[in-house]
Amino acid sequence: MNAVSQLHPDNHEAALRAWWMPFTHNRYFKSAPRLIESAKGCYFTLADGRRVFDCLSGLWCSPVGHSHPRIVEAVKRQLDTLDYAPSFQMGHEPAFRLATRIAALANRAEDRVFFTNSGSEAVDTALKIAVAYHRVRGEASRTRIIGRERGYHGVGMGGISVGGMVSNRKMFSSLMIPGVDHLPHTYNPAEMAFSRGQPAWGAHLADELERLVALHDASTIAAVIVEPMSGSGGVIVPPKGYLERLREICTKHGILLIFDEVITGFGRLGTPFGADFFGVRADLTTFAKAVNNATVPLGGVIARDDLYQSFMTGPAHMIEFFHGYTYSAHPLAVAAAHATMDVMADEKLIARAAELAPLLEQAIHSLRGEPHVIDIRNIGLAAAIELAPIAGQPGLRAIRVFEKALDDGFMLRFSGDVLAVAPPFVSTVAEVEAMVEGIRRALRAVPA
Ligand SMILES: Cc1ncc(COP(=O)(O)O)c(C=O)c1O
Repeated sequence: MNAVSQLHPDNHEAALRAWWMPFTHNRYFKSAPRLIESAKGCYFTLADGRRVFDCLSGLWCSPVGHSHPRIVEAVKRQLDTLDYAPSFQMGHEPAFRLATRIAALANRAEDRVFFTNSGSEAVDTALKIAVAYHRVRGEASRTRIIGRERGYHGVGMGGISVGGMVSNRKMFSSLMIPGVDHLPHTYNPAEMAFSRGQPAWGAHLADELERLVALHDASTIAAVIVEPMSGSGGVIVPPKGYLERLREICTKHGILLIFDEVITGFGRLGTPFGADFFGVRADLTTFAKAVNNATVPLGGVIARDDLYQSFMTGPAHMIEFFHGYTYSAHPLAVAAAHATMDVMADEKLIARAAELAPLLEQAIHSLRGEPHVIDIRNIGLAAAIELAPIAGQPGLRAIRVFEKALDDGFMLRFSGDVLAVAPPFVSTVAEVEAMVEGIRRALRAVPA
């Protein structure tokens, strides 16, 4: 028993009051706290001793299972060797080796990798590289960034500006970066409800980029940023042909295409990156989360080599890009990433995600017709179930299903009235099937 679980419910408030929790209904949570004590493989153990299946691989970030012995060992070893190394004007060898490995995994061996500590920082870094790139090559008027409605690009000022989630944006309009416009989102339930994989409808929505180019002129636009598959938005899968079309239009107008692969990077779709799954190349790619199984915060940006080269012009003793973080390429994060990539390669886990994907598709779509379900969508080893909201109380239905499932041993993720699942790559077939049956029971247990 830990300190909090020993408390009488009347004292929860005092014990829990100081931490203002992120993206959490603080008062609701603190009135009935759900505390995690430990994790191993695909399971969390809660403070009351219950073991629950991790249906979303943490927050999309722990696909090889928790506390994998090789990752734990690598981090412990690293702590004994080099706990921290500054990355400004100094470097440590494993970080260079990791950059090389990540570029190779992305099938971009010639490209460059900039390290950050989170997805949000990776996004802001990519936006800065894009704008600065045009400036250093003499096209300083290209400052505008095009994001997309319903996109999620983290919570930095850049990320919320190009993102398209109204709750994350509405309080901060005066702080957001100027000169941003948005493509329409691609989710249209009338045309694509219950699609399996990529919807057939919607490629034409990419042509909206032509409209924005006509409105603003290409000479003002630095980059377009989209998630290849929008995870936090509720597994919004790109229509067939949509990303290809975006790529074509960007290339035609000299606009950089940024893929935010914080969720799709490192295997979620059964390929190393989303770009591989869809066969569309990006100029800049963000990553985080699964790069090191989320053991220690780490993110980054892969940049086309010629973007990097365009900065390498002034005197060689001068800093070329005034940007970086105290913890960029933190040795513990780097060690965890090497171990994670070793495990993924040795245990063939990306192929394993690809193998499990059709099984998840089959199982999750069997929930069609269950109470409250108005849409189901899936791609790779990810799926979402959209629930009919309770009238006047958006989000409450999903909370109720989440709570029922948790009581039954399954830790789901909900956002609004969407439930998302993205099980660990190391899940067994039986575990994926049991997860879907757990969701079915939870749906049936929640009143209409
Ligand atoms: C596509 C995408 N970009 C950026 C982020 C932000 O990452 P972080 O929470 O590590 O800042 C997320 C987080 O879910 C994400 O899904």
